[in-house]
Amino acid sequence: MHKTPEPPIDSRRRLRPHGIAFGGDYNPEQWPEEVWAEDVALMKEAGVSMVTAGIFSWAKVEPRPGEYDFAWFDRVMDNLAGVGVAVCLATMTASPPPWLSRLHPEILPETADGRRMWPGGRQHYCPSSAVYRRYAARLVERLATRYADHPALEMWHIGNEYGCHTPQCWCDESAADFRRWLSDRYGDVEALNDAWSTAFWAQHYDSFDEVLPPRLAPTFPNPAQQLDFARFSDDALLRCYLTEKEVLRRITPDVPVTTNFIGVHKPVDAFRWAAEEDVVSVDVYQDPHDEDTQAAAGFIFDVSRSARSGQPWMLMEQAPSAVNWRERNGPKQPGRMRLWSWQAVAQGADAVLYFQWRQSRGGAEKYHSAMVPHGGTDTRIFREVSELGRELASVPQIAGSRSTAEVALVLDWNSWWALELDSHPSTALNQMDLVLAHYRPLLDAGIPCDVVPPDRDLSGYRMVVVPNLYLLKERDAERLTGFVRGGGRLLVSFFSGIVDGCDRVHLGGYPAPLREVLGLRVEEFWPLAEAETVEVRHLDGSVGRADLWSEAVVPEGAAVVAEFGAGPLAGQPAVTRHSFGEGHAWYVATRLAPQAMRALIDDVCRTADVGPVLPGLPEHVQATVREGDGGRFVFLLNHGRDEVEVGLPGPMTDLLARGGAPADRVTLPGAGVAVLTEA
Ligand code: GAL
Repeated sequence: MHKTPEPPIDSRRRLRPHGIAFGGDYNPEQWPEEVWAEDVALMKEAGVSMVTAGIFSWAKVEPRPGEYDFAWFDRVMDNLAGVGVAVCLATMTASPPPWLSRLHPEILPETADGRRMWPGGRQHYCPSSAVYRRYAARLVERLATRYADHPALEMWHIGNEYGCHTPQCWCDESAADFRRWLSDRYGDVEALNDAWSTAFWAQHYDSFDEVLPPRLAPTFPNPAQQLDFARFSDDALLRCYLTEKEVLRRITPDVPVTTNFIGVHKPVDAFRWAAEEDVVSVDVYQDPHDEDTQAAAGFIFDVSRSARSGQPWMLMEQAPSAVNWRERNGPKQPGRMRLWSWQAVAQGADAVLYFQWRQSRGGAEKYHSAMVPHGGTDTRIFREVSELGRELASVPQIAGSRSTAEVALVLDWNSWWALELDSHPSTALNQMDLVLAHYRPLLDAGIPCDVVPPDRDLSGYRMVVVPNLYLLKERDAERLTGFVRGGGRLLVSFFSGIVDGCDRVHLGGYPAPLREVLGLRVEEFWPLAEAETVEVRHLDGSVGRADLWSEAVVPEGAAVVAEFGAGPLAGQPAVTRHSFGEGHAWYVATRLAPQAMRALIDDVCRTADVGPVLPGLPEHVQATVREGDGGRFVFLLNHGRDEVEVGLPGPMTDLLARGGAPADRVTLPGAGVAVLTEA
């Protein structure tokens, strides 16, 4: 069961920024001190209210083991306090200093094939390393003690992007830690043998001492072992975070803590981690070369909003323009950075921050854009950044407001880990692609959606979408069944409800725990070849295509909505609908082409009586609503290139068009944004 998030700490910090926080990663150690005065002056000019500082400062504040030099960082903090910029202070533990790995080479991580990862980059520590955690905690203790009462301290930024480069480690210390973790989980080794199905291929263990992490093996390592290793590795990272959090809570109990997720990242279960944070924060790097990048970003934003049940969250990092780490790094076209920043706010963010403040002169990220580019302030990027800073500062009343949704989309990290294991009917199933294929039609239709783990209470929703939830516990299947029985509308896609928490097939006909609610069984999986497509005939007369997967569905009460048109499954169900209790459950046995998927989602929404935020939205326009003490705000975002007109239900004022009169239509240029309130 996921922990229910604790209520956020009500911070009493002096500098707490009012409104939407704006700023970025501040890495002053990369620059001579003369530059720092200009930094804070420019921060004021750009409307910066918060920076996150110290992320990579360990080697400079602790140049030798146990010898600290905080004097320079005191000046950084004082400078920021002097101009009223709040600091989300990093615990500085993301990149251990060279002396630490020299003194303790055993902290260096190892890959599955036994290669050591050396220092020279960053995040070169084994998540299970007790030595790393000890040195990290010692630094955090010093840091927290020193800055506990500093007026600039607003919140703590623990580590940085846990699991970004080293999500898992296969070294001997990790192996020992994995064995301890398994022994806590299973108690005795026979329970582990049962959970891991070790009767297969003579893998039976006589003691925990024989167990290893899934290192490079001649063929498929045991799937349940791989799954447990994913859980264990997530736990090992979380323990690093919690070790630091525990120190911070003891010394600064009233300062909120966060850590920045890397989007929706497979190694780190954001739902579990969010319960251990006071506020969720996330880094999102849209790809300007991808025409559809707002959908993937929108999904991450909705996960961030949902992870602490709707509490406003922080966009901790985004690029002002290009990044440096894709093969081809396109800049953000004029207006797109503003649009995508507003998209985050529209989906619940109360902070818009960037990586990073000043573009590095040297090092691996010197071609990554920054708020202050190499070219200085007379640049498009600095102008766009500063304009956005001013614009966000002009609408402080948005902060704290929240959104509601009648639709929930189910995402489960355990199932994600299991779905993408090897030795499956098809290894072409990618959880994020599959999830986005369900999310995008909702976004396009203007229908707000929460993203929830399968053990979240569903009673507040009218409709639940379950994309390819391969691993499903009986009790979570019962929750879905109960949701439909009570009148809910449920959409489930293929290869859901297939295995239990140990990757063992639920016997009794696929998908055994969902058969009753779906009114069918699946007799055989029939994955498609690469680039193969199948015809799907809808009983309403429309014909479309599908790819990736098909399967032999035998209805047991479900009505056929569409069938396969040709090939070995011709005439057999491709989409079904089952009336069950007071509700209805749909099942999709293939990957429908986007248009057909949109039509199906629209149909389920209609039956669920779920509608868009604004009816009749033009194509490419996203609409969301946030509501709070400051009012009710309707956000309109034009992701298209062309100007569009949007009709409104009544006269509304656009808060961003200063001095604009109330109107019942609004014109949005390509990449345009409006934040409307009722007149
Ligand atoms: C993030 C990281 C930052 C910076 C940024 C570049 O992953 O937290 O430190 O590297 O990416 O896009």
